[in-house]
Amino acid sequence: MSLTLFNINNFRNLSQLELNFDNQCNIFYGKNGSGKTSLLEAIYYLILGRSFRSHLLRRIIKHGENSFSLFGKIQQENNQVTAGITKSITSGKQIKIAGKNVASNLEITRLSPLQLLSHNSYQLLSEGPKGRRQFIDWGLFHVEHSFLDLWRRVERTLEQRNIALRTKLPIDCITAWDKELSLFGLELHNYRKQYVENFLPIAQDVLQKLSCAFSVSIAYVAGWDTDLDLHSALTNSIKNDISAGYTTVGPQRSDLQISIGKVPAKDALSRGQQKLLLYGLQIAQGILLNKLTDKKCIYLVDDLLAELDIHKCKLLATTLSSLPKTQIFVTGLTNKDLEDIFNDNFISKKIFSLENF
Ligand SMILES: Nc1ncnc2c1ncn2[C@@H]1O[C@H](COP(=O)(O)OP(=O)(O)OP(=O)(O)O)[C@@H](O)[C@H]1O
Ligand SMILES: [Mg+2]
Repeated sequence: MSLTLFNINNFRNLSQLELNFDNQCNIFYGKNGSGKTSLLEAIYYLILGRSFRSHLLRRIIKHGENSFSLFGKIQQENNQVTAGITKSITSGKQIKIAGKNVASNLEITRLSPLQLLSHNSYQLLSEGPKGRRQFIDWGLFHVEHSFLDLWRRVERTLEQRNIALRTKLPIDCITAWDKELSLFGLELHNYRKQYVENFLPIAQDVLQKLSCAFSVSIAYVAGWDTDLDLHSALTNSIKNDISAGYTTVGPQRSDLQISIGKVPAKDALSRGQQKLLLYGLQIAQGILLNKLTDKKCIYLVDDLLAELDIHKCKLLATTLSSLPKTQIFVTGLTNKDLEDIFNDNFISKKIFSLENF
């Protein structure tokens, strides 16, 4: 899958644009505030139906306007799909896929696996386990068609159990959810555990290619004492759950521990090293996805040069270009550095100056 044509109207500072993309490598350069991140944000929005910068529609619609719209053509192996989204302050949202109105972006999200490599990537190390679970679940969503239903089922059951705990219902009304939660929760756990097992050797291989001068340990943690089955763990923790007012054990507490020796990676590595590690992990996800499904991933790489030396940027460019059938969108301040970095990679590429828009 690759995004071939892209129309933008009134998204951030981008008033009206029509861009024909290269199906391998697209480079955007321009000075601070020229709209590089906004352009990546627009691609992200078309595919995922949300922004990575703000939940507030007014922040995203161009100042003084009432709505924004995005339209793209997505090329698949043998056919082309169109996708459009319009969001208006006064008249809500409209999403169209292949010319038909649809309720959500889900179909387009499934079609176009996307990884954003930007300063948001640091959150994987610096914030709580939720982001790391989402990191694993991204892969499962794209690999296992039934994964989303399973995930939603676990979330719903957990929510019901937590409402019962929070509103101090009798104990039977709380434990009534344990059978379902342990059944689907275990299935979710098994998926995640297996995914991480498949992921780790690929991740280590990518990190080696990126010449990471540190040895990273990555371990999946279940969210309960796995010497016990999940149902017993829920039963044993009922007193704790009642006093906490929420369910304290289960797959909703699982995590991916990323460390250097015994020290969490965020405390052991420099900013540049963290960036290299995180981008390596995100690239590994695209490789695993391609291996398991033959789908290819779109990579949005914002501000590639920030915090990285040219040598590391070149290693990243080489690694990205070696991924089968991948399309990348990369931004930076100047044309010269980016051209230098990508000179020996990607057979085809297009370079766009944001200054002209
Ligand atoms: N809703 C909006 N309407 C119009 N302009 C906006 C809106 N939101 C942000 N902007 C402006 O859009 C411009 C582009 O922002 P963006 O973050 O895309 O720049 P950038 O090229 O990525 O800059 P940098 O190199 O500093 O990362 C900025 O000047 C910003 O103030
Ligand atoms: Mg930017």
